[in-house]
Amino acid sequence: MKVTITGAGYVGLVTGACLAERGHEVVCFDIDSEKIEQLQRGEPPIYEPGLKELIEKNIKAGRLHFTTNCKEAYRQRDVIVLAVGTPEKEDGSPNLSYLKKAVDDMACHITQNCVVVTKSTVPPGTNEKISYWIHSKKSPALNVEVVSCPEFLREGSAIYDTFHGDRIVIGAASKEAGDLIQEMYKDFHVPVVRTDIRSAEMIKYASNAFLAAKISFINEIAAICERVGADVEEVAAGMGLDKRIGPQFLKAGIGYGGSCFPKDTKALHHIAEKVSCRFEILEAVMNVNDSQSEVLMNKARTHMGSLRNKKAALLGLAFKPGTDDIRESQAIKLAKALIHEGANVHVYDPVAMENAEKELGNSVVYSGSMGEALLDAEAAFIATDWEEITEFPLSNYKLLMKKPIIFDGRNCLQMEKIQKNDLTYLPIGRRGCISPII
Ligand code: UGA
Repeated sequence: MKVTITGAGYVGLVTGACLAERGHEVVCFDIDSEKIEQLQRGEPPIYEPGLKELIEKNIKAGRLHFTTNCKEAYRQRDVIVLAVGTPEKEDGSPNLSYLKKAVDDMACHITQNCVVVTKSTVPPGTNEKISYWIHSKKSPALNVEVVSCPEFLREGSAIYDTFHGDRIVIGAASKEAGDLIQEMYKDFHVPVVRTDIRSAEMIKYASNAFLAAKISFINEIAAICERVGADVEEVAAGMGLDKRIGPQFLKAGIGYGGSCFPKDTKALHHIAEKVSCRFEILEAVMNVNDSQSEVLMNKARTHMGSLRNKKAALLGLAFKPGTDDIRESQAIKLAKALIHEGANVHVYDPVAMENAEKELGNSVVYSGSMGEALLDAEAAFIATDWEEITEFPLSNYKLLMKKPIIFDGRNCLQMEKIQKNDLTYLPIGRRGCISPII
């Protein structure tokens, strides 16, 4: 099929590269000429494992193109995929203005009947608006249908998730439009869920909110575990074996970040409010997450007293491993809290240093390696569980640091090894990290 992707961000690029890999003829359109030039040279503007190789391969095969030219992008296409960002507005609702602009530009350039697929995360009812926007701009002779097909890929494993997803949700008003999109995905061999448009839009928000709820739930369980002398890692493992609960998203830590969960939970809360539903569980989920990084800071204050003028090594800056994305990263929040306490913060991340510098400027010291960050430090804070960080020899903490105290915001080091190396270790909700109070 001839497919155009509108928006060469995370979702758009990965979707475009994967559709090209499955034999479709794909054009990725974006208004950012610098980004498009970079992509034309085969260089993705984001760090995502395997993406560069997939882009290079499909450019070479002649199946993947990049353009800033509307005419070229929308001429004779079977499917147009909308993957434009819907960032958060001040009131928590998504900003649809970029999407509206992209749809308006696209609608005037469509030259044949086609299906427009919305991958951007949008509130229920938005696809009907998109359809209205298209119909008020396109040539009246053309038949254009809008289908909702929300995205479920995770950063850091985006290509794997696209090829091995749990489901592809297709929300369509007509059978024909839904069939065309199902056909586009036929070589992905991922189970397909067919539904109406508003339910598809809702599935996306409900899924992200539920996953966020699992994380806040286990973080609250972790707080109780500490006080009753239980170990949250063992509790989560025991809970996760129940198939109705499942083992995933039960990792306690400093909370969730990224460009999706914080934004989508707020948006769903806003959607509920608009229809006079109070989403109390979601309010608690967001509140718990907002204060979760404080858990580590409180431990630091208790164990070290003042942090003023003390060197603190902050290990990991990305919102999770496998990405250079620092949007809503709990690590950045932690860096700011440490700076606020007067600590001399030395940061290290395998890939997110450049992005972090844009956010933290010269308020921290950027270390060239983990060892450099830890040298003469009085405390180490683990904020992202990169393999380089979890595999770092524990004996080196003692050798490098002034005082080997590790505050582990991702519970990613092994207790037995910690004990063998005689380190002061403060994870979240694990046995032995504080004395039980009952
Ligand atoms: C999330 C969803 O997992 C995807 O399905 C969805 O497509 C995407 O949002 C989106 O809406 O675009 P992503 O934000 O890439 O994907 O990252 P996740 O792997 O979900 O992690 C989100 C945050 O939760 C990270 O900060 C991570 O460290 C944290 N997390 C995750 C935990 O604290 N504990 C866990 O058990 C799991």
